[in-house]
Amino acid sequence: MSQQKRAYIETYGCQMNISDSELMYGILAEQGYTAADSAEEADVILVNTCAIRDHAEQRVIGRVGQLQQIRQSRPELLIGVTGCMAQRMGEDLLKHAGQVDLVMGPDAYRQLPEKLASLAPAPPKPSPRSSLPVMGAPKGGLTVLGFDPFENYEGITARRTSAVSAWVPIQRGCNYRCTYCIVPYVRGDEKNRDPEQILAEVRALAADGVPEVTLLGQTVNSYEHGDWSFPRLLREVARVDGIRRVRFTSPHPNDFTRDLVEVMAEEPTVCSQLHLPVQSGHNRTLKRMLRRYTVEQYLEKIEWVREAIPHIALSTDVIVAFPGETDEEYEATLDLMRTVRYDDAFMYKYSLRDGTPATRLPAEQFVPDEVGQARLERLIATHREIQAEIYRAEVGCVEEVLVEKTGRRGGLQGRTESNKVVTFEGPESLIGGFAEVRLVSTTGATFGGELVESAVAAEPVA
Ligand code: SAH
Ligand code: SF4
Ligand code: F3S
Repeated sequence: MSQQKRAYIETYGCQMNISDSELMYGILAEQGYTAADSAEEADVILVNTCAIRDHAEQRVIGRVGQLQQIRQSRPELLIGVTGCMAQRMGEDLLKHAGQVDLVMGPDAYRQLPEKLASLAPAPPKPSPRSSLPVMGAPKGGLTVLGFDPFENYEGITARRTSAVSAWVPIQRGCNYRCTYCIVPYVRGDEKNRDPEQILAEVRALAADGVPEVTLLGQTVNSYEHGDWSFPRLLREVARVDGIRRVRFTSPHPNDFTRDLVEVMAEEPTVCSQLHLPVQSGHNRTLKRMLRRYTVEQYLEKIEWVREAIPHIALSTDVIVAFPGETDEEYEATLDLMRTVRYDDAFMYKYSLRDGTPATRLPAEQFVPDEVGQARLERLIATHREIQAEIYRAEVGCVEEVLVEKTGRRGGLQGRTESNKVVTFEGPESLIGGFAEVRLVSTTGATFGGELVESAVAAEPVA
């Protein structure tokens, strides 16, 4: 390459997508690209997208339209759309999202440098004025879609965005078919990475001084490879020298076993935190969502963890207004929230995703938007009240905080073992290490703290 090209990747969606963007930067770096600090400075802009809800997609369409303006000063610029929405919409994206040069699904990232090279120098483009959102398929757009059952991106060194906490994908795709969910159709079937490769990656991270890893998969605990199960892998990862904190997301309740609880309780580096998506508090809805567990089974699993790890922090995902959800079923979800008392929750209004089984439910079952919105707002209010009570009760405690960065309003920001955000005053030299912090105030969802001591700050990892 005559001159170093600069790439900028903007990421939407879940941790898997953040991790994929780190992989894409890694793949591009191998071919001599550097990372641009902003879209405006880039030769290649990739928008790595999410398809989980309509709202997520609308944002991307708007953003890609906006990015066209950069072409006015950089006519050679290439704009690509990658990720789940790229896989879902394919060629249609070329029509709907302004001028897009490349549309690439999540299994094709190894081909990024090659495909970008085939696009450059940019094909003749319309004049800058008419290059704002165009109707109809523009010339030159390239689509690379489809699944590769063997692509796990082994051998690629991701370009990590944090030196403190690393995402480690252990699984791609999903074998569940929850009736509302687009993920299996945009990411394909579940495929699990070789455990030795995963462990090698974690050891390398530890050697680089990264103290925290989060194992990633859509149903991370259904991981299976030869005689390796998820609990076995988690135990091994937890025992890697230098790793101080291990998290994993998202486990599926159906694959959540006593063996896993045992590892969580026994391994001191596995954080006392669990994100266990419940989706609904009513068995009929759960069944129609094809979640494969009952409320009773879910609550029993929550009991196991709470018994084994009494101070565990719990979080969840909930969908309201799934087609056919009655008032009574919705109330059952509120009851479940009051029973479990989650430390954190991500709550959504059902969004219809073309191609998913739930779209075939009778039209009259679809919950009117105002009803869905009201259900969502009440659920959020109910959860927030509980969350604030939990947080207020923790004020006064001293926590070990892994210091991640400077806070948005100055000071430092980090997380407790239970994954709660704390901001506090202290020297920047603490970033990357652990500090003892007394929780002195709360917004109801984050803490303000005061440094007690920084005994184990930023010690190099052997
Ligand atoms: N694999 C994870 C979920 C990934 S998607 C799991 O099974 O737990 C993250 C969350 O988005 C889901 O847990 C669900 O709560 C929400 N979600 C998925 N599809 C949705 C849809 N069509 N409408 C609204 N929320 C949805
Ligand atoms: Fe979607 Fe269900 Fe798979 Fe999670 S388990 S990604 S909600 S299909
Ligand atoms: Fe979105 Fe794809 Fe993740 S649809 S939630 S970015 S797997």
